[in-house]
Amino acid sequence: MKVLIASDGFLTDDVLTTALKNEVPDAEVARLVGTWPDPPFGDVAEVHEALGDEDELIDALKGCEAVISHTHPFTEKVIAASPDLKLISICRGGPVNVNIDAATKHGVMVSYAPGRNARATAEHSVAMLLAAARQIAQRHMEVVNGEWATDYYKFEKTGQEVGASTVGVIGYGAIGARVAAIMAAFGARVLAFDPFKEPGSDGVVEFVTLDQLLAESDFVTLHARVTEENKHMINAESLAKMKKGSILINCARGPLVDYDAVCDSIDAGHLHAAAFDCLPEEPLPADHRLLKTPRITFTPHLAGASQEASRVAARIATADIAAYSRGEVPTHLANPAVLEK
Ligand SMILES: NC(=O)c1ccc[n+]([C@@H]2O[C@H](COP(=O)([O-])OP(=O)(O)OC[C@H]3O[C@@H](n4cnc5c(N)ncnc54)[C@H](O)[C@@H]3O)[C@@H](O)[C@H]2O)c1
Repeated sequence: MKVLIASDGFLTDDVLTTALKNEVPDAEVARLVGTWPDPPFGDVAEVHEALGDEDELIDALKGCEAVISHTHPFTEKVIAASPDLKLISICRGGPVNVNIDAATKHGVMVSYAPGRNARATAEHSVAMLLAAARQIAQRHMEVVNGEWATDYYKFEKTGQEVGASTVGVIGYGAIGARVAAIMAAFGARVLAFDPFKEPGSDGVVEFVTLDQLLAESDFVTLHARVTEENKHMINAESLAKMKKGSILINCARGPLVDYDAVCDSIDAGHLHAAAFDCLPEEPLPADHRLLKTPRITFTPHLAGASQEASRVAARIATADIAAYSRGEVPTHLANPAVLEK
């Protein structure tokens, strides 16, 4: 079986080659080297978060039965022009750079790598929560700028201990459950809200209503997927339900939060601080109001970026190529309708 290794700057040729050698040692290999994250990805024809030239990909796919990729554009044009192709294995949580309908139509299976960066994102979310609690980024900038403020021991300016707090986790999936477990290990009381969880306790977490979570939490951390229903679920009304002096963390997705309402709440002295890996626009315009609002810690959407996440993604995706090579259905098949073909 000939497999195209279509690498980029995160899922590197080295990482993908090592994973494929472990899973399918006798595969014949072709290579295409992409450049993401330089430049950033975007739409290529009808697919999203993709980067690369369709004709170059068609050329590289000649004679290949399977391909492993992270960001290359698997458009209808590419799929239709690649008759040897039977499996596209994508090293990411959602195969948004593949035209799934076109793949199904042409009898091509698409697999993906759910949960690949759950641990990386959970750990970063905890880092952001601690940074916001202790104002690490702001105090760091003071030291870098030659200031040595002495107010940090004034009672009202001191930080909050997580272990003495209640942490509210919104969205109890792969990432939320990991964050909850780490917070429980700190000694925090942990509340969680997820529409697919019944109220009650599992020994680590108390599942409660959203209103109870907002009313009782010192920290609220978001880990829900974005749906039509939960856009701006954190808005002026929900912020008003949060405790005065509480802290909001969003390392999930920008559309969950009305950021203008967050600025209003901090300016009004209700919400104490926030930490955001996900923003209303990425990159954030230099004159954005968020940048002028005090006590907000930012990172540029990097929570899922770790070397382990890259290796785990490669392992999950190549395991599905191995399953295919044994005549089995890939575990993480995104288009089961293709099996009817
Ligand atoms: N910042 C990053 O780099 C980064 C990296 C990976 C994932 N993410 C984001 O983190 C979030 C969680 O990812 P995951 O892998 O844990 O997903 P997941 O699918 O495992 O879990 C998401 C959970 O959200 C719940 N949910 C859906 N609607 C909800 C609502 N209205 N209120 C509360 N919960 C709701 C679902 O029931 C599910 O349990 C996603 O938004 C994902 O896009 C961000």
